Amino acid sequence: MAQTATSKQIGTATLNYEGKSASLPVLAGSLGPAVADIRKIQGDLGMFTFDPSYGATASCESSITYIDGDEGILLYRGYPIDQLAEKSTFLEVAYLLMNGELPTKPEFAEFTHHVTMHTMLHEQIRRFWDGFRRDAHPMAMLCSVVGAMSAFYPDSIDIHDPKQREISAFRMIAKIPTITAWAHKYNVGQPLVYPQNDLTYSENFLHMFHAVPAEPYKQNPILSRAMDRIFILHADHEQNASTSTVRLAGSTGANPFACIAAGIASLWGPAHGGANEAVLKMLAEIGHKDNIPAFITQVKDKNSGVKLMGFGHRVYKNFDPRAKIMQRTCYEVLEALGIKDSPLLDLAMELEKIALEDPYFVERKLYPNVDFYSGIILKAMGFPTTMFTPIFALARTVGWVSQWMEMIEDPQQRIGRPRQVYTGAVQRDYVPVEQR
Ligand code: ACO
Repeated sequence: MAQTATSKQIGTATLNYEGKSASLPVLAGSLGPAVADIRKIQGDLGMFTFDPSYGATASCESSITYIDGDEGILLYRGYPIDQLAEKSTFLEVAYLLMNGELPTKPEFAEFTHHVTMHTMLHEQIRRFWDGFRRDAHPMAMLCSVVGAMSAFYPDSIDIHDPKQREISAFRMIAKIPTITAWAHKYNVGQPLVYPQNDLTYSENFLHMFHAVPAEPYKQNPILSRAMDRIFILHADHEQNASTSTVRLAGSTGANPFACIAAGIASLWGPAHGGANEAVLKMLAEIGHKDNIPAFITQVKDKNSGVKLMGFGHRVYKNFDPRAKIMQRTCYEVLEALGIKDSPLLDLAMELEKIALEDPYFVERKLYPNVDFYSGIILKAMGFPTTMFTPIFALARTVGWVSQWMEMIEDPQQRIGRPRQVYTGAVQRDYVPVEQR
């Protein structure tokens, strides 16, 4: 797997407090702002730093993904996302994220072979589905089944063995489409469709998701390409909430399947991966263009608790570059499916237009994120809304796995353990219940 380059010291910052002084090394990576290394601050000044939600804290060194939120730039291993979405395939991007370089032809053939050979699930895992309620949310099933993989593949959970780490990575990347498709099949009461290894990664997923034994399933190359592109756009996104969850879980030495299950749980929330599902719910609730102004008024009212889903991002304070590609893909998919009028897309476009001109959104630098359009494409491709976040999880599995591997191989790695500012009761004595 790829070697991580380390940051270099480019200066020193000094922090003074109550007559004491701390010299903080200022470090620079290959791109992005410098960072102050505060690791010695507790020893030098007897204090911690306070950064709830980590908006100003780099938690690790990483050479996988780079984001410039002001410029709207996203690079995987240095390659711009639009070039990869246009010219590459999801499996090639998976190789790139995991290994640091684009593969040669023989390297890619070997990688594809490894992923393909692991697409089937242990037959006993099938029985999990009988235990779930039919209406179980597919994210609940993904979380459980991926976590349970550690019980089925104990031969690849020794995190200190590089070969086992690699096998567990192949297993997760290869099997997550099967698990995701089966979660859907169980929901709708159709027979589970087994993987077909002569298909590409995206074709195989579409086949397992849409095919039924009674009829042949015909692939539409525009749709399988769109699927591949959606996977590429969601493959990694540096230290977001779910990736940080994977790293934090992994820092304890937990096995890789347990760590990825933790990542899936974190992705589920509507502020993160659940936003694509929330966008469609929001559009359905708005219902008609005429209702947009009233909805925007509600969004701007802090007491309403209503947000414009698919807008805003912790890091992007300019257009999310993935949203632009998603918008283009949206048109291609609708055309390929012969959908001339999409009231949903029209509504989304009008909402976007109004929001982008409104001072509330302009001042706060709120732009559409990747999820604003992804739901519309996925809906057009025949995926129910509950499957949007699982599809995101499917694609992000390779990012989580790559980040987890990088963390395990990092010589600086130790258990992640944030501190706190305690604001509770000061020490006091226990009072027996009769005296309270
Ligand atoms: N609608 C309305 N107002 C918003 C929105 C929004 N979608 N997003 C941010 N704001 C407002 C906040 O209320 C805040 O206003 P204030 O300064 O007057 O208090 C200001 O913009 C700054 O927002 P923060 O909440 O500080 O931004 P943060 O970085 O914490 O949140 C987040 C980012 C969670 C993505 C937020 O923008 C949001 O909830 N968006 C909607 C959900 C969504 O689309 N999530 C997907 C993210 S992309 C992904 O995970 C793939």
